[in-house]
Amino acid sequence: MSNLILLLLISINFVASQQMFRNPILDRNSADPTILRLGDFYYLTLSENTERNLTVYKSSLLTSFREAESIVAYSTLEGFSDLWASEMHVVDGDLYIYFTMTGGGKDHRMYVIKADDPTNPMGNWSDSIRLMPDWDFAAIDGTIFNHGNGRRYFVFATWAFGPLTIYIAPMNSPTQVGFPKIELKRPTEEWECYEGCVKEGPFFIFKNNVSFCVYSVSSTWGPNYALAMMNISYELDPMTVSNWQMPDGPIFYRNDEEEVYTTGHAAFTVSPDGSETWMVYHGTTTTTNIEGHRIARIEKIDWSEDGRPIFPRPHGYNHSQAVPSGQVV
Ligand SMILES: *[C@@H]1O[C@H](CO)[C@@H](O)[C@H](O)[C@H]1NC(C)=O
Ligand SMILES: *[C@@H]1O[C@H](CO)[C@@H](O)[C@H](O)[C@H]1NC(C)=O
Ligand SMILES: *[C@@H]1O[C@H](CO)[C@@H](O)[C@H](O)[C@H]1NC(C)=O
Ligand SMILES: *[C@@H]1O[C@H](CO)[C@@H](O)[C@H](O)[C@H]1NC(C)=O
Ligand SMILES: *[C@@H]1O[C@H](CO)[C@@H](O)[C@H](O)[C@H]1NC(C)=O
Repeated sequence: MSNLILLLLISINFVASQQMFRNPILDRNSADPTILRLGDFYYLTLSENTERNLTVYKSSLLTSFREAESIVAYSTLEGFSDLWASEMHVVDGDLYIYFTMTGGGKDHRMYVIKADDPTNPMGNWSDSIRLMPDWDFAAIDGTIFNHGNGRRYFVFATWAFGPLTIYIAPMNSPTQVGFPKIELKRPTEEWECYEGCVKEGPFFIFKNNVSFCVYSVSSTWGPNYALAMMNISYELDPMTVSNWQMPDGPIFYRNDEEEVYTTGHAAFTVSPDGSETWMVYHGTTTTTNIEGHRIARIEKIDWSEDGRPIFPRPHGYNHSQAVPSGQVV
């Protein structure tokens, strides 16, 4: 009897110790991560070292992609390069991956591929379709924005008309972006301009009829790369810049005490049971030597009573956190 209790206590303790995890979620360069939950799995895409292949990683755990199965969904044609920041989205029941690449005499244009089977990201994908062929300027970091007004927009970043900043345009279909293309305010504040003025990497979350756009500010290659957030109510038109509430500072930034820097390029997903919001982003462990050392991490995002996302401080590698709700190891 006492042996049984002892065994029970040991196994409870074992289960409890399994309920924690530590960042990162991969042990190698894994910049610009995006994670989509589909069925019972998490699918990760990122900017690969080669910048030539678009790889999809499949994991049952949000907290680790070390053992993830993977497929190459797309490889660049000869002469193409800089395949960056791919994002998988379900749009009108189909599955797409949006990404940028350079080639064919064009410097960074947005492209999209479509899954043959929308329930299977590990299956076959279409050839690439060029987005915005009628708008012949550099574009990166494109994302899908389903605003509560029932309209869909494409939000991306461009350096074509000044500092790298965020643009919005209506979408006519999942593979067709319309006009006009509107600039959502340039980076000018000190906190947007450490080592270079930048606004990039937009991604949307929603609560209580408000759309929140979380994006990255300051030099991509500096330790002060950080997240900021602008928001807009569902009843307002996002194509009018003054309808957006702009922030007066970053919401997620370097944590020197825990040695986390360059904290940006976020995307959001949910815990296995759907009850929690989780953010994936990249960070570094030093203030220099950033290129090639941006590594994917996750953090839980809480919501305030009045429906605002609350961002934690970035957790360092030594900091244990509870695993996402419903995660079964
Ligand atoms: C891309 O992936 C294919 C496998 O599908 C592999 O043969 C090739 O070497 C990869 N290319 C690069 C540049 O890593
Ligand atoms: C992918 O395409 C190949 C070649 O057409 C085919 O043999 C294979 O069955 C397809 N895979 C899936 C999962 O449909
Ligand atoms: C969101 O908008 C709908 C339609 O106007 C309204 O019925 C609902 O109460 C709103 N929800 C919140 C949380 O404001
Ligand atoms: C939207 O952003 C503004 C400026 O940061 C803030 O004052 C406001 O409370 C935000 N609205 C919501 C619903 O979070
Ligand atoms: C993490 O833990 C190791 C081993 O205890 C320690 O040497 C290191 O200083 C810690 N790092 C931080 C940032 O706390």
